[in-house]
This record gives sequence, structure tokens and C-alpha cells, in this order.
Amino acid sequence: MMYLLDTANLEQIKRAFDLYPMSGVTTNPTIISKENRNFIEILKGIRSVIGKDKMLHVQAVSTKAEEIVKEAEYLNEVIGGNLYIKVPVIAEGIKAMKILKNKGIKVTATAIFTAEQALMAAVSGAEFVAPYVNRIDNITGSGVNVVDEIMELFELHNVDAKVLAASFKNVQQVHEVALTGAQSVTVNAQIMDKLLEHPLTDWSVEQFIKDWETVYGKGKVTNNL
Ligand code: G3P
Repeated sequence: MMYLLDTANLEQIKRAFDLYPMSGVTTNPTIISKENRNFIEILKGIRSVIGKDKMLHVQAVSTKAEEIVKEAEYLNEVIGGNLYIKVPVIAEGIKAMKILKNKGIKVTATAIFTAEQALMAAVSGAEFVAPYVNRIDNITGSGVNVVDEIMELFELHNVDAKVLAASFKNVQQVHEVALTGAQSVTVNAQIMDKLLEHPLTDWSVEQFIKDWETVYGKGKVTNNL
């Protein structure tokens, strides 16, 4: 499983990359706009925190293929590193994916609500496809089922693209998506923490420390007895 952080907030990115086994960062125009400052500075800031080898997924905002391609070329040049251009699965986006594939620019197909959208994006050259799990749940669909269908279609049709499941509101959604075998998830900082939280874990750790200190004293650890 590859974990990515779905934010452009530098403090959250620094903390998550320090603590957790992060593979990259995803952004979208909404996430970027929350930071409310220079777009390229935001991206360069993220790149400097995560380094050039971790994945950074950045969305193009144009809705015409040629313009999407221009954005992708620009971002690839200015931001560089292990960069993926997120392109929505509209018809012009699919056209852009074909062109970008030929140019060797990596694409993440985004705003995916159906398995057929994912399949066409993958056939058009997208390396990742991003189904919006919670947004599908919110329209009385099943985000997990869509992810499951995508996994099945990719195997049946021998497609190389990977799933980058997105739009999560709780740990159960992440858990069910992980059980489908989806290769990656992008979650916000709060869900990243919640994947680990359990009161009995905290209780157990407290108990271990209490018992230890009863015999060996406060502040003593295994290497300073
Ligand atoms: O990466 C796409 C994702 O950010 C959408 O999530 O929470 O806005 O549905 P959400």
C-alpha cells in the first residue's frame, strides 16, 4: 500500500513525512486554493519538503486538451521531480492523456466516479486513476465497489495503471479499499493519524511504562539503566 497525503499544507506534510511511510502528496485546485498564496511557491515548497523522488500529483485546470498539455509541460519543467499531472476524465482530458503519454509526461486520471471512466483513462495512458470514494458514497453508490470493479477490469484487460483511491472521510473506507488490493490511497492528515489510533494501544503503552518505572525508575529506558 502506498500512502499519499491529500493536502498542500506544509506543516501537515512535514509532520506526516516525518512520522509515516509516505509515498507522496496529492493536490487539487480546491486544496491549493485553501492555501491562498502563490501557486508555484506552494508546489516548490512541497517539493523541497518531500524531495524529488516522492510523488507529487498536481492538477491541470484547463478543460481543452491542448491547454491541459501546455499546463502539464509547464509544471513538469518548473516543478520537476517525480511529478504526476492530474487530469479529469472528461473527453478533452482523455485526449490530453493520450498526448501526454506520447510526450512521456506522467498522468493521474482524476474525478473518477465509475469503473468505465477508469478503464478508458488507463487505456489512454494514465499511470494512476483516482476514484472518489466518499463522493460516490454520498450519491448512494459504493465507492469501495467502484474501486473493486476497477481492480477487476484492470486485471481482466491486462492494464498496467494503478488505483490511487481518493476522497475519504473515514478509516473504514480506507480499510475496505485496502482489502480490494488497490495500490494506493490519498488521505487527509486527520485520517492518516486515525489509521493508527486505538485507545487500547495507548492504554497498553501507558501500562508498560508504569510497570517498568515501578522497578527501574522514572526516565530510565533500556539503554540508560
Ligand atoms: O484528491 C481528490 C480528493 O481531494 C477529493 O476529496 O474530500 O474533496 O471529496 P474530497
